[in-house]
Amino acid sequence: MVLSRSMLAAAPSNVLVPSSHGQLHAIDELQTGLLTHPAYIDPKYLYDTLGSSLFTAITQLPEYYPTRCEAEILDEYAVDIAEHVGNVSALVDLGAGDCAKAEKLLPSLLPERYIPIDISVEYLHNAVQRIQHAYKDLKVLPLGQDFHHALTLPDSIPLPGRLFFYPGSSIGNLTPERALALLTQIRDSCPEGGLLIGVDRIKSRHTLEQAYDDALHLTAAFNLNLLRHVNQRLGSDFEVSDWQHVAHYDEPHARVQMHLQAQSDIQIHWPGAHRDFREGERIHTENSYKYTPDGFRSLLTRAGFSRIEHWSDTRGWFSVFSARA
Ligand code: AVI
Repeated sequence: MVLSRSMLAAAPSNVLVPSSHGQLHAIDELQTGLLTHPAYIDPKYLYDTLGSSLFTAITQLPEYYPTRCEAEILDEYAVDIAEHVGNVSALVDLGAGDCAKAEKLLPSLLPERYIPIDISVEYLHNAVQRIQHAYKDLKVLPLGQDFHHALTLPDSIPLPGRLFFYPGSSIGNLTPERALALLTQIRDSCPEGGLLIGVDRIKSRHTLEQAYDDALHLTAAFNLNLLRHVNQRLGSDFEVSDWQHVAHYDEPHARVQMHLQAQSDIQIHWPGAHRDFREGERIHTENSYKYTPDGFRSLLTRAGFSRIEHWSDTRGWFSVFSARA
């Protein structure tokens, strides 16, 4: 389905967001996860306004290397990357956040249009105002959308020359099966275009676990803040102080897992249901999959991409792939 402006509810800003169907879906989704054993909450609920700000702070931590590694690659290989992606009519920024990464690409890629997409509408609104101010000729069309659920672009965006930009190793927050489905959907949405994507690599357990359990406890705050967001969306009564952040590397699955662990026996209520948690019981809140360059290349090939190129940072901790549709 292609989304048109008329199918979108008016947002409090210049950002287009889907209608109230999204909120009903969120309630169903949260309820299902909380009633499952073991319980889980989709990591997208980490990103309310405060969660998005906390994530931006995490990217500045010494332990959280992915952002710096990716920036190093995008700086060092800007010319090679621009050459490989070719003419860009529209830069579609998936999970744009504060739009800072895409902003760095604008001078070398020179797109006609910039389409930042993010689930956190308020956060996107502020970033878009900044970009529009700095690049007066750029056509900016922000979309408030959960693109993991359905990737839909307005039909006003021409098909040829679309470049999807999916930085930050966010693809790692999907299982490899869901990653393949999303990559395939992206591939189908950009004939005569391509994808530029950041991917975190397998490395030592110590480095990985520190990155997801930092000394300042910012990642803990990011994880725990999800409970406040869930309370707001579901009407539940989680107390943040009853839960503890846990992160560990699950080597067989090549993924860092984040959990919230109950500090005592707790009963959580929300309209129409409740759930008992025993002391030590966990809610699974995020997976962050790590790849080898060959493993990710093969995922891109299976999604239908060709002419795949990749660049790494000096330590070989992170990769940026460019793939043509
Ligand atoms: C957004 N995403 C790629 C981050 C990651 O590394 O998986 C989210 C994150 N979770 C904990 N720290 C950062």
